[in-house]
Amino acid sequence: MNQAIRFHETGNADVLKLEHVELRDPGPGEVRLRHSLIAVNFIDVYFRTGRYPLALPSGLGSDAVGVVEAVGPGVTDIHVGDRVGYLIGPQGAYSRARVMPADVLIPLPDGISDRTAATLMMKGMTAQYLFRQVFPLQGGETILYHAAAGGVGLIACQWARALGVTMIGTVSTDEKAAIARANGCTHTIVTSREDIARRVREITDGKGVPVVYDSVGKDTLQASLDSLQPRGALVSNGTSSGPVVIDTRELATKGSIWLTRPAMAHYIHPRAHMLAMAEELFGHVLAGRIVSEPQQSFALADAAEAHRALEGRKTTGATVLVP
Ligand SMILES: NC(=O)c1ccc[n+]([C@@H]2O[C@H](COP(=O)([O-])OP(=O)(O)OC[C@H]3O[C@@H](n4cnc5c(N)ncnc54)[C@H](OP(=O)(O)O)[C@@H]3O)[C@@H](O)[C@H]2O)c1
Repeated sequence: MNQAIRFHETGNADVLKLEHVELRDPGPGEVRLRHSLIAVNFIDVYFRTGRYPLALPSGLGSDAVGVVEAVGPGVTDIHVGDRVGYLIGPQGAYSRARVMPADVLIPLPDGISDRTAATLMMKGMTAQYLFRQVFPLQGGETILYHAAAGGVGLIACQWARALGVTMIGTVSTDEKAAIARANGCTHTIVTSREDIARRVREITDGKGVPVVYDSVGKDTLQASLDSLQPRGALVSNGTSSGPVVIDTRELATKGSIWLTRPAMAHYIHPRAHMLAMAEELFGHVLAGRIVSEPQQSFALADAAEAHRALEGRKTTGATVLVP
C-alpha cells in the first residue's frame, strides 16, 4: 500500500498526516516513480500554512528523486529504471511513490548520488537561476545573500566561490556562520547581534553592494535596501520571515533601486532550458566545485517534525524525508 503525507486543513505542522493513498497506472505522458528521497523546502511551509493557496485536501511537496517503475503511452525519452528527479509539478512529493508528468523529470547522471541529487533539484536550480539568470553574476562582485547557511544558501555559497564572487552572507548564529564560511561564503553577518547594513558598508568601504538576494523578506527588507548601491538590485526571492510590503517611493529614495520577485516557474521553460540549467549545476557538482549532502533526515512519517525544524531555524543546508 502506498503512503503519503496529506493535509485537510492549513495550519501548524500538526496538520500533516501520513495516509494510505491509491497508486494508479500512469496515463498518457505520465510515469510512475518510486521515490528514494524527498526534499523539504520552505515553499512547502507556505503551502501548509495557507500563505500559498491550494485546494484541500492535498498532498505536499514538489521536489524528490527516485526510479521510474512504469511509463504511460507516448512517453519516449524516459524509461523504466531511469533515475530521475524533479522540482516542479503537482503537489504530492511527500510520498513513497506517485504518478508524475514525464516532461518535468530530470535524468540524473551516474556520478551524482540520490542523496546529493535530493539537495540539488529545487535548491541547486534556485542558485542557478538566481546567480545565472535573475541577476547574472560576472565574477568580481561583492553581493549580500540572506540565509547563507540554509538549503539554497550552502549551494549558493559554493556557487559564488566558483564564480569568483565575494559573498556577504547573513545567518542567525555563530555555528551557522562557520558552516557558511566553510562552504565559501567570504564574510558572515550574525543577525542576532550585528547590524546588517552597517556591516555591509564596513566590508564594502561604504559603497554598498550591487545586488541583494533576499529570501528572508519582512525582517530583512530595510537592511537589504540600506545595503545597496544606487541603482542596485533587490532580488526578493522568498519570505521566510513574512511577506514583503513595500512603498515603491522608497525604491527611489534608497537610490533608484531595481526590485524583482522572481518565481522559478518563469525561468525553467521550455524543457530544454530546464535540462540545460540542470546540466550546468551537475557540471559544478561532478567537477567538485559544489559538494552537497542532506544535513538533516527524517522518516516520511515525521514530516511534521522536519517542518518544525525548518521553520524553527534549527536546520542548516538541505533537509530530506526518507520514504
Ligand atoms: N523564488 C523562488 O523560486 C524560490 C525557490 C526556492 C527557494 N526560495 C526561497 O528561498 C528561501 C530558502 O529556502 P530553503 O528551502 O533553502 O530554506 P532555508 O534557507 O533552509 O531555511 C530558511 C532560513 O531562513 C532564515 N530565516 C530568517 N528568518 C526566519 C524566520 N522568521 N523563520 C524561518 N526562517 C528564517 C533561517 O536562517 P538563519 O537562522 O540563519 O536566519 C532559516 O534557516 C525560502 O525563503 C524559499 O521560499 C525561493
